[in-house]
Amino acid sequence: MRRFIRPAIVTLVLLILLALPVTAVLARSYFLSPTWQPAQEQPIAFPHTTHFQSAGLDCEYCHRNVSDGDYAGMPALELCMDCHQTIVTGSAELETLISHFEDGEPVNWERVHQQPDHVHFVHASHINYGFDCAECHGDMQTEIDFAEQVRDLRMGDCIDCHREYGAPTDCSVCHY
Ligand code: HEC
Ligand code: HEC
Ligand code: HEC
Ligand code: HEC
Ligand code: HEC
Repeated sequence: MRRFIRPAIVTLVLLILLALPVTAVLARSYFLSPTWQPAQEQPIAFPHTTHFQSAGLDCEYCHRNVSDGDYAGMPALELCMDCHQTIVTGSAELETLISHFEDGEPVNWERVHQQPDHVHFVHASHINYGFDCAECHGDMQTEIDFAEQVRDLRMGDCIDCHREYGAPTDCSVCHY
């Protein structure tokens, strides 16, 4: 009997030790309030709703890699200037845009979402599965003017949704 009990206890202890970090991460995800900040102060206050409502632009018009890559991608200033050479309202925000363009200086948008380096998120898989941007980013066509984080998007949230839809939950799916 002894011969079996000792290895069994060792295995049990090892399993518990291995499970602890995962439990800790999940517990932190579920029980601590989210750590995201409100909308970032941007170099130019870019109004999302206006560009849907007054210009009829799809999200993919500017975030071009969203359905075939990991990153959604950010638009180049040239794209903005296609319209804002002629659509000029006299607002300070557009003045800033135009002076960046004329000086050949890129606009350094502040990141709103930022997963740690060890996390692998893929936009394409989610978009091609059929999720709307709004599922994770809220309604940026009619409600949210300035990009901000509206959904938890930490490990507990990712795993809950993966379980709900039968998507893979192996560590290696989301971690490098
Ligand atoms: C005309 C170009 C344009 C269109 C169209 C556009 N965006 Fe954006 N988007 C931007 C720019 C510029 C930023 C950076 C400024 C900011 O974060 O507020 C941005 C930022 C974002 C961010 C935050 C990125 C981060 O740092 O985490 C999200 C999310 C986003 N857009 C989603 C959308 C969605 C969803 C739509 C469609 C409803 C959309 N965008 C349409 C130009 C655009
Ligand atoms: C397809 C044309 C189009 C593109 C491309 C476009 N915009 Fe616009 N933008 C508009 C229209 C239309 C308005 C609304 C103008 C008005 O209020 O009369 C607008 C409004 C704005 C405003 C608000 C101006 C104000 O008076 O408050 C800002 C800031 C702005 N755009 C920045 C950008 C930036 C930055 C980009 C590139 C990431 C961009 N736009 C790309 C058409 C466009
Ligand atoms: C399943 C949730 C989910 C959906 C659906 C989703 N996103 Fe995201 N988005 C994220 C996460 C998570 C990040 C942060 C990724 C990172 O930091 O690596 C992000 C980041 C972004 C960013 C900034 C960084 C980048 O990837 O360039 C933009 C812009 C963006 N999303 C636009 C969109 C648009 C547009 C759509 C719809 C076509 C969309 N997202 C749909 C979860 C989602
Ligand atoms: C709203 C539900 C939902 C959320 C939230 C979500 N996912 Fe997913 N994710 C899915 C579904 C469903 C699939 C499977 C798509 C398929 O089968 O093609 C998927 C697929 C993936 C894939 C690709 C897997 C593969 O093998 O192709 C990765 C990577 C991924 N998700 C990472 C994440 C990360 C990281 C987060 C959190 C930041 C997250 N997901 C949040 C629903 C979600
Ligand atoms: C569906 C996606 C997904 C899966 C599957 C997943 N993780 Fe994560 N994990 C994340 C995201 C997103 C973060 C970063 C946000 C956070 O800390 O919750 C993270 C963070 C972590 C962290 C770092 C926590 C910290 O304090 O920075 C560890 C450790 C970790 N995961 C371990 C694991 C292990 C072990 C597994 C397999 C049992 C696993 N993860 C499976 C998405 C996932």
